Amino acid sequence: MNILIVGSGGREHAIAWRCAQEGHKVYCTPGNPGIAQVAECIPLDEQTPELFLQVANLINAELTIVGPEAPLVAGIVDHFQAHGRRVFGPTAKAAQLEGSKAFSKEFMARHGIPTARFQTFDSLDEAVTALARFDYPVVLKADGLAAGKGVVIAKSKAEATQALEDLFSGALVGAAGSRVLIEDFWRGEEVSFIAICDHDTALPLPPTQDHKNIFDNDQGPNTGGMGAYCDDRILTAEQKAHILENIILKTLRGMASEGAPFRGFLYAGLMMTADGAKVLEYNVRLGDPETQALLYRIEGGFVQTILAATEGRLPSAKLQLSEGATACVVMAAHGYPAKVRTGDKIEGIEKAKGATVFQAGTRMDNGALVTSGGRVLGVTASGRDLKTSLNHAYAALENISFDGMQFRRDIGQKGLKRYTV
Ligand code: GLY
Repeated sequence: MNILIVGSGGREHAIAWRCAQEGHKVYCTPGNPGIAQVAECIPLDEQTPELFLQVANLINAELTIVGPEAPLVAGIVDHFQAHGRRVFGPTAKAAQLEGSKAFSKEFMARHGIPTARFQTFDSLDEAVTALARFDYPVVLKADGLAAGKGVVIAKSKAEATQALEDLFSGALVGAAGSRVLIEDFWRGEEVSFIAICDHDTALPLPPTQDHKNIFDNDQGPNTGGMGAYCDDRILTAEQKAHILENIILKTLRGMASEGAPFRGFLYAGLMMTADGAKVLEYNVRLGDPETQALLYRIEGGFVQTILAATEGRLPSAKLQLSEGATACVVMAAHGYPAKVRTGDKIEGIEKAKGATVFQAGTRMDNGALVTSGGRVLGVTASGRDLKTSLNHAYAALENISFDGMQFRRDIGQKGLKRYTV
């Protein structure tokens, strides 16, 4: 089957790799040099639903899988469906679950889905006055899409006021910050719970845990994610059943009842509190780098499961998963997550045995692979248990180098504290 993957990051490399493993002819637009090893890449200068459709038509794509959120919010699925092209992802209306934080929080409140107390503001003065009603640390969130940069955790009133000024002025994330949410902060462990969904049915994928801060021990500024691991033990069977029923299926029923039925990957970013799982945010796509760890556990049936979801047959789909655990360690560029330096030569990927290196911010420059974005590589490995998968990933990573590279040495350590292996 001809499959088109939309996107150019590590997540899309993992999706393309999995589809190729299952014997399909894979194309990717715009792609990157790593993806080009498993798929035919079609560069695009501009990214609009119409241009993506033209690519799908050109290669006669029988299935299109959309990686990032921006094309989903821009209506790629609506556009493909209007032209009879099979695509997996939510419509623009359903993608509001990620596209507008205010929509998603109000949706959760309407449907009794557990989430933090919040208020939404359209003016700086009102937001600053409202800080008196919240304790510190406090969470400040841009309403719109902000590529992972729209959330600030402020420890004091001075920090919160400064962040609100930066959000409303556009300095932090542009127009995405013209509406801002203030939320209570929760302590606890975060878990990414992702399900393949179609209207009122969901096939939950194994839980994963991301590592958002740039430095070890969750220090330093937030990033898109510096590493992830996938291990069934992250949640108990009871917790998984509870989350599926009270968060995922409740969300699907709520969206359907509001005239926006959801088909696609639904990602609930959860905080595990003493009082159970609470939703920090929704994403309407697979996570990055969660996908790299997650798809590395799949041994078969990925494409057939997606196809089943597009045909109303999701309950009959069979996804084969490996035992054990997987881990992905992200290697990031100099300066990330602030101003990133690009053009550093990457060496040693071919020596990284025992792991698969998914590429994200890379490009070819005069025949050499160089850095071209914040998160550069995701070194991904499996093992009979978490400790073994981490050993494999870190041993492979030791062979890779580029000037200014940054990576965390404690990926998976929270898991190892719980289970020791
Ligand atoms: N790793 C977090 C995300 O994909 O949003």
